[in-house]
Amino acid sequence: MEDNLKKYMANLHVLIHNALNFHWNVTGGLFLTLHELFQHQYDFFFKQIDILAELMKGRNMLPPITLPEIENLADLELFESKDYTARDTLEIQLKQFQFMLDLSNKLSTFYGEQHDLALEDFFIDMSKFLGKHLYFLRQILKQ
Ligand SMILES: [Fe+2]
Repeated sequence: MEDNLKKYMANLHVLIHNALNFHWNVTGGLFLTLHELFQHQYDFFFKQIDILAELMKGRNMLPPITLPEIENLADLELFESKDYTARDTLEIQLKQFQFMLDLSNKLSTFYGEQHDLALEDFFIDMSKFLGKHLYFLRQILKQ
């Protein structure tokens, strides 16, 4: 259970880094729209990572914080700083958000069965946000 939460948190760190990266580096006519969308995402993920860290500390677990630890634990790929087309950023996010939605759904079910309501609620909030943003990403990609 501790390993699941550490891994999830490492993935959340990667989502924040990639959202910041794309916020700065996306190019083209959709720049301002996506710049704002990615800012909205990293603001939410940053709030969530602190909530998760405090839930872990309350259960005697240490949240991962060093960059090597995060890179080691994460499943998601961290992308280098360079220019990205709008389509590249959206397609990368589509894959990574879908992966995190599946993981969030699994963990909300798991903690629900453990009657750990705070963790269940945390993963439900993540699922709601990721599900909504997957819809946004698909709509933009349809153009
Ligand atoms: Fe900014």
